[in-house]
Amino acid sequence: AIERTFVMIKPDAVERKLIGEIISRFERKNLKIVAMKLIKMTKEQAKELYIPHKDKPFYNDLVNFATRGPVVVMVLEGDSAVEVVRTLIGSTDGRKALPGTIRGDFALDIQENVIHASDSKESYEREHKIFFLESELLKY
Ligand code: CMP
Repeated sequence: AIERTFVMIKPDAVERKLIGEIISRFERKNLKIVAMKLIKMTKEQAKELYIPHKDKPFYNDLVNFATRGPVVVMVLEGDSAVEVVRTLIGSTDGRKALPGTIRGDFALDIQENVIHASDSKESYEREHKIFFLESELLKY
């Protein structure tokens, strides 16, 4: 089924000028970009995005990392987009992510792992609303 997912290119990847490389992988896969922007997240947005991790020891570090520089937030659409994008991204720990995945090819750290994507439809619904109005999701 056609579905949507939320993706964020993290500050480490923007600093390393990997935006184009990462977006081109989604385009090659034939996922449709229905919304996209370059923003500096506020602390409030970062805390809300990572609310499921609020009791983890790395929560504060994660919020500081996510707000240290610009990020690219986007909504991608396609058949089984949530699962397909998670597969393209690879596992959380960049040291363990398989070659050929985005993290496998570009990340060497568990925190600075280049990219985030929703892990379920429910996560997509919660996450994309932190950054986008429904009117910003383009129909084309
Ligand atoms: P993400 O997929 O965005 O979801 C939560 C983020 O927390 C994860 O990517 C990493 O950036 C970070 N993270 C997960 N586990 C750890 C950990 N053990 N130590 C530090 N950061 C982590």
